[in-house]
Order: sequence, then structure tokens, then C-alpha cells
Amino acid sequence: MTSPLKERIVRHSPSRGAGSPDVWGIYEPDTGSIQYVCADPATKDAALIDIVWNLDPKHYRFSTESLDQVLALARREGLNVTWVLDTHPHADHVTASAIAGERTGAPTGIGALVPRIAKIWEGIYNTPGAFDVTRDYDRLFVEGERIPLGQLEMQVMLSPGHTLGSISYVCGDAAFTHDTLMQPDVGTSRADFPGGTTEELWDSIQAILALPPQTRCFVGHDYGTSERREPEWEATVAEHKARNPHVKDGTKRQDYIDRRDARDATLALPDRIFAALQINLRGGRLPEPEADGASYLKIPVNKF
Ligand SMILES: [Fe+2]
Repeated sequence: MTSPLKERIVRHSPSRGAGSPDVWGIYEPDTGSIQYVCADPATKDAALIDIVWNLDPKHYRFSTESLDQVLALARREGLNVTWVLDTHPHADHVTASAIAGERTGAPTGIGALVPRIAKIWEGIYNTPGAFDVTRDYDRLFVEGERIPLGQLEMQVMLSPGHTLGSISYVCGDAAFTHDTLMQPDVGTSRADFPGGTTEELWDSIQAILALPPQTRCFVGHDYGTSERREPEWEATVAEHKARNPHVKDGTKRQDYIDRRDARDATLALPDRIFAALQINLRGGRLPEPEADGASYLKIPVNKF
């Protein structure tokens, strides 16, 4: 989905004290994506989460404006990037993880179930064996795994639904919940991509809402609303439980599932999806160049 909100806004959500990270959110307006920097205030060790490799879909030309912006912020704040993380293989934008890993020397990581998503998409593209997630990411994280971040750690929480292998990263009172919740005046993310299920998304969101009420949830996307032109991306568990129209306290599981499925049935595919997934399932690398030195993407026709 293209966002009507055009600025590359940056916001700092400061550490709340011991055990709580500094978080910066950097808005990517072309796809309405929010990229995050999560840092230990004591050691300045930092993780980059869901960084965008900018794609101009009119010319199929890539640029690293967003990564450049994020790395400039890291330099300005004196941060050492020690991780380059994705929450899931994104359908709406291309990940900058491979390039970010090369530029920073930091290891890349994504969820351990992502090879199953790769299998589904090898079927869709008719490219058996094209993706090797184990090769293209340095680490595949399992449920409950603890990733060190200076004196803090990020805990991995499997949160499938939007994709079958999505994970959230929980660092102290900050939870990077990507495409599960949207902002409390919007609702939740779609669950209709291949391998996604509304039932699993509900269960994943319930696990997120069981985190302490003051937990800061940082979402993957925001496109504004008719009443709100500025993008937002942070809200507490308590705020979601009080007023998120899809999942607030008192919502019944089946009512949510019916509502989500009805909404998803009306949604078009994101315009970059077929480009994005074949690159994201290579960790942010283009397909091997052909004999003329150029890389080519493959688009399924009449399948969706
Ligand atoms: Fe997504």
C-alpha cells in the first residue's frame, strides 16, 4: 500500500530506565513502512530492524536512501550496529538486510520458519531450489531465543498469522510487533498472504497483548487515517487493549476472525509483492546476474 504521508519522519522513543532500550523509528513513506533502531543506552550496541531497500517501481531501480538515513542516525547517536534483523519476509517492500549486513559487518537474522515460506513461494514462482534462507541469513531464530544487545537482550517471540514464520523481538519494555497490530485507531494487519491465517494472527496478537501493559509496541506499517495525516507507530499494550477496534478487551475470537477475513477479501495485493518476495527470500539479494550481467525478476501471471 502506498502511503499518502510523504515525509521520512524520524522519532526517538527514549529509554524508560534500567533494562529499557532507546528506540528510533524511521518512516519510509513510499511503502508506509517503519524501520527501527533499538539500542542499549549503556553500551550503545544497536539492532536495525526491518530496514527498507528503496525500489522505484516505475524504473525498477534500487537505491539505499533509507539505509543511508538509518546509518547516518546510528553514526550521529554513536551507536555500534551489532544486528541486522527482519521480522518476516516482507511483501510490500524489499529488505536492505544484505546490504546493511555488508556495510556494518553485523550478522543478519530472521525467523526459523522462514524456509517454509520460501518453499511456498518457490511453488508460486516455479523456481524449485531458488531460495536458501539458511545460506542467505546468518541466523534463524527460534521461539524464546535470547539475542544479546549490549547489556540488554532481545527475546524472540514467534508471532505467525500475517506470515507463517513472522517473529516479534521483545527488548525490555519495547516490542517490535511488525505486521500483527496496526495502530490503535486502525486495527490489525492482513492475514491473507500464502501461508498466513487469521486464526494464528489472533493467537499471536493475544500473546503480544499479554505482555506488561506499559510495553511499547512498535508496528510495521502506518498509512495514516482520514482523521490523522501524521504517521504513528508506537502505542502501549494498554492502549491497544483499551481502544484497538479489532482486538480491544471484550473482543470475541470468532468475531475478529470474521471481520479480518471479510476485510482481507477486499484488499488488492501490494504493488511490489512479486518483486519483493523473490529478493527478500534471498535475504535482500537480487537473483544471480544472467550472461549480460543484469539481474532479472520473475513475475507469475494469472496465478492470483
Ligand atoms: Fe508484512
